[in-house]
Amino acid sequence: MVSRLHIPHNCTINLKPTALKQIQKMSDNLVIVVTGTNRGIGKGITTVLAQQNSKRPLTIYATSRTGTDTGIDTNSPNEVRYSTLDITDRSSIQSFFQQVLKEHSAIDILINNAAVSNDYRENPEYAAQTVWTNYGGTRDMCEAFLSQPNIRPGARIVNVTSGYNALSTYGPELQTQFRGATTITDIDALAKRYLEDMSSGLDAQQSAGWGPGARSYKVSKALNSILTVVLARQHPDVLVNCCCPGWVNSDMGRQGKGTPPKTLEEGGRTAVRLAIGDLGPGGDEDGGLWKESDKLSGRFYENKNIIVPGWGTSKLWLEL
Ligand SMILES: NC(=O)c1ccc[n+]([C@@H]2O[C@H](COP(=O)([O-])OP(=O)(O)OC[C@H]3O[C@@H](n4cnc5c(N)ncnc54)[C@H](OP(=O)(O)O)[C@@H]3O)[C@@H](O)[C@H]2O)c1
Repeated sequence: MVSRLHIPHNCTINLKPTALKQIQKMSDNLVIVVTGTNRGIGKGITTVLAQQNSKRPLTIYATSRTGTDTGIDTNSPNEVRYSTLDITDRSSIQSFFQQVLKEHSAIDILINNAAVSNDYRENPEYAAQTVWTNYGGTRDMCEAFLSQPNIRPGARIVNVTSGYNALSTYGPELQTQFRGATTITDIDALAKRYLEDMSSGLDAQQSAGWGPGARSYKVSKALNSILTVVLARQHPDVLVNCCCPGWVNSDMGRQGKGTPPKTLEEGGRTAVRLAIGDLGPGGDEDGGLWKESDKLSGRFYENKNIIVPGWGTSKLWLEL
């Protein structure tokens, strides 16, 4: 079969499928992958991205375990493609990357949003699920992204973490271990150590320096944050940042007491800023989308408090 490609000056040329594929791969679209988009903040992030009047058209892969088409309104020429992806399943990650890299030379931006929170039913099994989804799944997605053969300088990773990630809530020895992590193996060791300590009971967990009560969600987000710092140091050509979306009216947000004040789109703003916006230190009233700006990496962005629907300001997580 031959496809038709329209070019300026009313010319039409006929192309073989292989040539057409080659041209499509070289297109100037910015290719973005978002995880956990069938509901919640992932849906909000995808909506904000899809509605951009972009300098470069956005091809957004909205991924979820079910691949659900949520019918997000899209500003042409942006495009949303729905796809299945379970971040806890390495074969799912591998086949997803293979599928996308058949269609594009590289993925430019990865937004790791998918996560679980089991704090209301904490036990060793749920703690392991939380840690290996929120930290392990994010780690595996980052590794797949960073090992793309044609990754471009300036590629970006955004890890959606939480204001519950503060390092100061841990005992001094653990803080030193977090601060001293320089490799993924070091971070894996922290994750395993937490799960071992908590499996001996809440007292053992607390005396080991992890803090009282259900901690797996908080620990998973601290692990995500140190992952962000370590990857930013290891990959100076890639911009790796993390953010807190604030308190958002999603299924997870409603686990807290009261009504979360932020909409899904407001919750998606800081992640969108870190994906296609200003990476300077200050707050930006509109996220500085598409602005040429500073290029900070390894930072944590959040708003003044969890109810403010802003675009975030930069912090050094290691100092929090
Ligand atoms: N809501 C808040 O107030 C708040 C505050 C701070 C941080 N956050 C962070 O914001 C992000 C989004 O949270 P949310 O509030 O939107 O949560 P949510 O409403 O519970 O949605 C979580 C999303 O993650 C997906 N997911 C879970 N496990 C997955 C897996 N193994 N593979 C792929 N997708 C998976 C879920 O898909 P399924 O439908 O398949 O389960 C769902 O789409 C999370 O990283 C969360 O920690 C949220």
